[in-house]
This record gives sequence, structure tokens and C-alpha cells, in this order.
Amino acid sequence: PKTVLVGAPVQTGAAQPGCLMGPASLRTAGLADVLSGLGWTVEDRGDVAIADTVPVPCANPAVRNLADTAAWIEVLTTAAHAAARDSDLPVFMGGDHSISAGTVAGVARHASETGQAQFVLWLDAHPDLHTLDTTQSGNLHGTPVAYFSGQPGFDAYPPLTHPVPAGNLCMMGIRSVDSAEHRVIAAECIAVHDMRAIDETGVLAPLRTFLDKVRSAGGRLHVSLDVDFLDPGIAPAVGTTVPGGATFREAHLIMETLGDSGLVNSLDLVELNPFLDERGRTAKLLCDLTASLFGRRVLDRMTRSF
Ligand code: ARG
Ligand code: MN
Ligand code: MN
Ligand code: MN
Repeated sequence: PKTVLVGAPVQTGAAQPGCLMGPASLRTAGLADVLSGLGWTVEDRGDVAIADTVPVPCANPAVRNLADTAAWIEVLTTAAHAAARDSDLPVFMGGDHSISAGTVAGVARHASETGQAQFVLWLDAHPDLHTLDTTQSGNLHGTPVAYFSGQPGFDAYPPLTHPVPAGNLCMMGIRSVDSAEHRVIAAECIAVHDMRAIDETGVLAPLRTFLDKVRSAGGRLHVSLDVDFLDPGIAPAVGTTVPGGATFREAHLIMETLGDSGLVNSLDLVELNPFLDERGRTAKLLCDLTASLFGRRVLDRMTRSF
């Protein structure tokens, strides 16, 4: 199997600088060698780039860096479409979470060409369901899910050709939701497994239910992993820490189960802020979690089907 690595050194969507070093940190942690050691052919396409932009006006005065963020989304849509076409499981190395507005738009375009439905597993403390009108922080990493699921109010972002239906989304790890986001979750019936649900059921039950749905639809699955999905105690390198995140064991179980399923077609690693890391431990953890998705196992087990 083949993977393509795409670097997205984007921090215009975040309040704190540092995420632009994310791709470099993941490369330094050895991501390419880890994946080739698992038998994958790895092509690192380097980092995407944008040209200079001119400011774009916005009715919401809180919004920051709109023109640059829209430009990143546009180039990432194209890069993600190509990476999905050219490999089995591309990895998009962020960069703040605004990159997923582009990566998901791009992989969904490819899914439309193969005649498959696009599904998204969103692993995050936050649902990132703000529109340009509802964001109060103005940090555009809070908007990608609203954009790629086709919510109105994104005239300043690239026109979306292939929205992902809200019913094809599954969120896990959620524990910080703003009131405007609550309203979208309720109105669109998005499957949100907050930390309370995970405490009650564990991670496997909701994950298997979602994977069954993807499998029976013959769909393609994109996984978007925000560092703040993880507990800050194991993953300090993020600007938006929220206490009570996923444990080391929960996170690896999710990634191994996703790997066993054979259903994952693309992956985002986002919000890594190396300026906030401790001796590279968060970057190394992301590499190890990616390895679990790509087939690293402690012991060989019978291939499970579920
Ligand atoms: N909901 C908050 C906001 O809009 C936090 C968003 C955090 N998003 C992220 N990708 N870390 O500002
Ligand atoms: Mn996020
Ligand atoms: Mn295509
Ligand atoms: Mn988050």
C-alpha cells in the first residue's frame, strides 16, 4: 500500500502561533520512516504554500486572517484531492484545524468521482461547527465542520463542490461546545459522542456502530485527529487544551480498530503546536497513533470482522 504525506504549515486559524511548525515536527519525529517500516510506500510531497493575499472584508469583525485561511483551504482542497487519487491513505500534517476545511473538501471531491459516499470521524475536544457569522473568538480553526458539511455563511471560503452530509459525520471526545454549535448539532442530528458518553460506553461501541455504517454504505472514511482530543497530560503541545481528554489506551484502541477495519482512506493530524511541546513527546505520540492506524500491533491477532 501507498501513503502520501502532505505538509500544511498553517496557523492563521489559531489564536497562538506555532502550528506552522507542525509538519516539521512530525517529520523530525520520523513519521515517514515509521510508516515505511510498516510496509507502506511513502511519498512526502513537502509542504503546500499560498501566494500573497489581499484582505477580504467580513461582516463579523471578530474574524481573523480570513483571506489567508481561505487561500490555504483552496490549495489544500486541490492537494487533498490529488493525494486521495494517488494513494491509499494520505496523511495531512497540520497546521491548525482550519486545514480540514480543505482536506475534507478535497477527499470528498475524489469520493464523488469514485461514486462513493464520504464519511468523517472527527476526534476532537471541539465540534468546530462555527460559521463565519457565529464565531466569537474569530479563530477559524473553529469552522471547518460547518464549512465541509455545507452550512450557509461561507461566501469568503472557496465554493464547496461536494459537501459531506451531516448524517455521515461521527464525533468523539467532544467536551467544549459553544451555544451556536449546540444549535447546529441539534438541528442537523450529528452523531456526537461526548466524553460523558465515552465514560459510559467506552470508545469501541460507538466506533463499531459508525464503522458498520461506513462499511454497509460502501463509503470512504476520513479521520481528523485534533491533538486536543487527547488528554493534556499525554499531549501538551496544543493551544486549546481542555481537561478530561482521551487516554493513551483509548486513543490507541481507536486507531488500531480503525486500522483493522480497512475502511480509512485519509487522515489529518492537526493542532500540533511544537512551540508548546515537551521534548517532542506530543509529536512522537502522534507518530505512534498513526502507526497503530497503519498496522503496527503488539501481537498478531485473528483479523476481526465486525
Ligand atoms: N469553539 C472555540 C472557538 O471557536 C474553540 C475552537 C477550537 N478549535 C480547534 N480546532 N482547536 O474559538
Ligand atoms: Mn479541532
Ligand atoms: Mn479524484
Ligand atoms: Mn479541538
